[in-house]
Amino acid sequence: MDVQLRSRSIRVTKYQVTMVVIFIFVTSAVLSYGSWWNLMNKVPDKMSTHLSNFMKNKPTYKQDELERVLDSASMGNKTVMLSVLNRAYANKDGMFDLFLESFRNGKNTSHLLNHLLIICFDQIAYDRCISLHPHCYKVFVEGNDFSKELLFMSKGYLNMLWRKTSFLIEILKKDYSFFFTDMDILWFRNPLEMLKGNKYDDIQFSCDSYTGHPYDLKNGANIGFYLIRSNNKTIALFEKLYGMRNHTGGKKQQDLLRDFKFQGVFKQLGLKIRYLDPLYIAGFCSNPGTFNQVMTMHANCCRTIKAKLEDLRLFLDKWKRFSNNTIADPIFPPHKACLHSW
Ligand SMILES: *[C@@H]1O[C@H](CO)[C@@H](O)[C@H](O)[C@H]1NC(C)=O
Ligand SMILES: *[C@@H]1O[C@H](CO)[C@@H](O)[C@H](O)[C@H]1NC(C)=O
Ligand SMILES: *[C@@H]1O[C@H](CO)[C@@H](O)[C@H](O)[C@H]1NC(C)=O
Ligand SMILES: *[C@@H]1O[C@H](CO)[C@@H](O)[C@H](O)[C@H]1NC(C)=O
Ligand SMILES: *[C@@H]1O[C@H](CO)[C@@H](O)[C@H](O)[C@H]1NC(C)=O
Repeated sequence: MDVQLRSRSIRVTKYQVTMVVIFIFVTSAVLSYGSWWNLMNKVPDKMSTHLSNFMKNKPTYKQDELERVLDSASMGNKTVMLSVLNRAYANKDGMFDLFLESFRNGKNTSHLLNHLLIICFDQIAYDRCISLHPHCYKVFVEGNDFSKELLFMSKGYLNMLWRKTSFLIEILKKDYSFFFTDMDILWFRNPLEMLKGNKYDDIQFSCDSYTGHPYDLKNGANIGFYLIRSNNKTIALFEKLYGMRNHTGGKKQQDLLRDFKFQGVFKQLGLKIRYLDPLYIAGFCSNPGTFNQVMTMHANCCRTIKAKLEDLRLFLDKWKRFSNNTIADPIFPPHKACLHSW
């Protein structure tokens, strides 16, 4: 009995020794891996760059976080889709949800979500974005609270728009072209095929008013939806616009761009600007078409989020029934809430 006990206790001790040895081995392995990892990350020196390039077999080049998200959302030709999100659009059953729902119920649109980078203006928007979407990027904003509902043309709203513009310049300078879409736009069909033929256009704008001629400067652009190619002309235009930020005379960016157009700035820069037919790229300001042709619908000419949500919801629900042949009537529902939001 006594002997048995002792031998068992000796066996236990051996077991413990073995465990301690394993523990020390594992811990030291983890610690040395950790410091190796820290070294790789903290010291952006030539050694770690060369090493990781050697491993990836790529030319020497260090990507920053923005380049990484652009690269992962890219269509393969340095083109992405961009939209912006702040807290006011991020709540459940809010604008962001509706926007995503439209892509999932559109014709040939759901795969576009793989190329959509959402630029988030606050932490709540960012948290919500990463819970629903693969490509989110948080823009650091100093001393500004973009979290509240920003009423159209309020000071906070305008600040956010200028921050957005400086960020878009950064993207163009990284040689990325992009489709910009406001989030209060429903995507019913995929406009990329239609737009990509227009290879020589520097910018393609959606319209609040359309004369019927794509290159007519009398068309009224809406900057809620456009495709812009990265080149020195488009960068020069956006920089000129951004340079006006303290001297807007109370005008919004869309109106400043219109002034540029009439002052001959587009011409001086050699920009080729196409305006998109609202039959396809429509908005509440101008929607001559029906569900038979429409590709995107923008809740513009509308003041509050509540009204936009109400009217866009009616559009999306009718579209779902139309596109699965439950109903044949292609006429758009009215947008009464927006009409009464002013
Ligand atoms: C869907 O859209 C992609 C471009 O985003 C295009 O290449 C493809 O041909 C489209 N497919 C159909 C069936 O229209
Ligand atoms: C990149 O490819 C997409 C999809 O085919 C196309 O719509 C877009 O215009 C292309 N971008 C450029 C800059 O050519
Ligand atoms: C853009 O670059 C081309 C040559 O690369 C140059 O001829 C042209 O003047 C530049 N335009 C602007 C607006 O800088
Ligand atoms: C605009 O005002 C800000 C802050 O007052 C200043 O930092 C900036 O340089 C000004 N920019 C221009 C183009 O006047
Ligand atoms: C068509 O879509 C509507 C709305 O989502 C749905 O209620 C209906 O069941 C669908 N009908 C068919 C035949 O799929």
